[in-house]
Amino acid sequence: MLANSYPYYLANEPVAANQDLIVTDKYTGETATKVALADSAAIDRAIVASVQAAEPMRHMPPYERQNVLNHCVARFTERSEELAMSLCIEAGKPIKDSRGEVSRLIDTFRIAAEESVRIGGEVMNLEISPRARGYRGMYKRVPIGPCSFISPFNFPLNLAAHKVAPAIAVGCPFVLKPASRTPIGALIIGEVLAETDLPKGAFSILPCHRDGADLFTTDDRLKLLSFTGSPAVGWDLKARAGKKKVVLELGGNAACVVDADADLDDATERIVFGAFYQSGQSCIGVQRILAHDSIYNELRDRLVAATSKLVAGDPKEESTFIGPMISEQEAARLQSWITSAVAAGGKLLCGGTRDAAMLDATLLENVPKDQPVCTQEAFGPVAVMSRFSNFQDALDEVNDAAFGLQAGIFTRDIYKIQQAWDELEVGGVVIGDVPSWRVDNMPYGGVKDSGLGREGIRFAMEDMMELRNLVIRTPNHL
Ligand code: SIN
Repeated sequence: MLANSYPYYLANEPVAANQDLIVTDKYTGETATKVALADSAAIDRAIVASVQAAEPMRHMPPYERQNVLNHCVARFTERSEELAMSLCIEAGKPIKDSRGEVSRLIDTFRIAAEESVRIGGEVMNLEISPRARGYRGMYKRVPIGPCSFISPFNFPLNLAAHKVAPAIAVGCPFVLKPASRTPIGALIIGEVLAETDLPKGAFSILPCHRDGADLFTTDDRLKLLSFTGSPAVGWDLKARAGKKKVVLELGGNAACVVDADADLDDATERIVFGAFYQSGQSCIGVQRILAHDSIYNELRDRLVAATSKLVAGDPKEESTFIGPMISEQEAARLQSWITSAVAAGGKLLCGGTRDAAMLDATLLENVPKDQPVCTQEAFGPVAVMSRFSNFQDALDEVNDAAFGLQAGIFTRDIYKIQQAWDELEVGGVVIGDVPSWRVDNMPYGGVKDSGLGREGIRFAMEDMMELRNLVIRTPNHL
């Protein structure tokens, strides 16, 4: 269960400044706990401390950074059930999915611990023409400096971890703003980091309202901004981020193509999971299902049957598959998109009803392509089916989107696999599974409106470091 209140962390120290942020149980709507809320003066102090911590962090030997990360792995493992329950309460995430996220949190820190001692450089022969005779070069990687992180509500632990763990691995201090609806996961990460010997100022974790949080974006003492969240917010932050490097992990309307040769039992099971786990609140949740004409009716009937059986209810129950969306407002927004799709001629295959923040798992077909449920990010338990007869047409339809995060293809044809990999405008193509599949060491991120840059520990670490070159001249007479 949750504590009665949580402090924020400023320069590694817990600060129980106030209890102004109410965190609700997303299923019952009741107050679950209270959290200290940072104001802009606290954020400024955290940035000052992070600037002071940059040098000691840079000088921390890799084995010490690795010790910090290994400590986190051990403590998260010991506290895993508490962490899972906190996700279940603050995000309304079904307990099985919550446990899954905790195991990914542990993976993320474990990978970072491994990578922290593998940061290297390269020796280069620079003698590419007579004027470079006698020159050689080498480069190493140095931490970029204090980083600004903003993490989302849908994976309160693991998507914060995808920023925090690489920063520690490379030796960058950071200030983190967790989502104000779900700050507890990040604050427990803070509690565990406060048990370590990180230099003072190495981390601050500051729940705050968006309107007080401008310094996270605009302050030039921060050298990198890494944001995960909605496309509208992300692109706006980038426009205001000044000189700092910006990494954006934004949304999508991920497509899954099911070709004629797919195993329909397997595809059905995976698509129901990919579309509806944690109520579809994943940037790579299946939103568009493109099925070959020859199997369309069969797949549709199977999907409707399997979707109708999903157990919805209290996320704390082991049997629950569909819990609440993050808020009633979000569920109402998505239900209005369903209503609009049906009014425009789409057919509701199952679902569509709502009780407060609980929206049924919903499947639609024949929806005009300009409807929001097709063109925008649904970020909820809704998927739309359509048919194709030609594989290239299916790929074109996947690409006919503002977003490009991941795509899934069920086919056994090696030529079509290569065609999809060559042609799809996305950050990742998943063959034999849904676009929703991710493991935490792979490069992850999008193109087009889905973002900039990649996470996946090693790739995030690259962004948090700069190359520093060394050129050595050996005079000809030596
Ligand atoms: C996301 O929603 O962007 C992250 C998905 C994941 O980590 O599985």
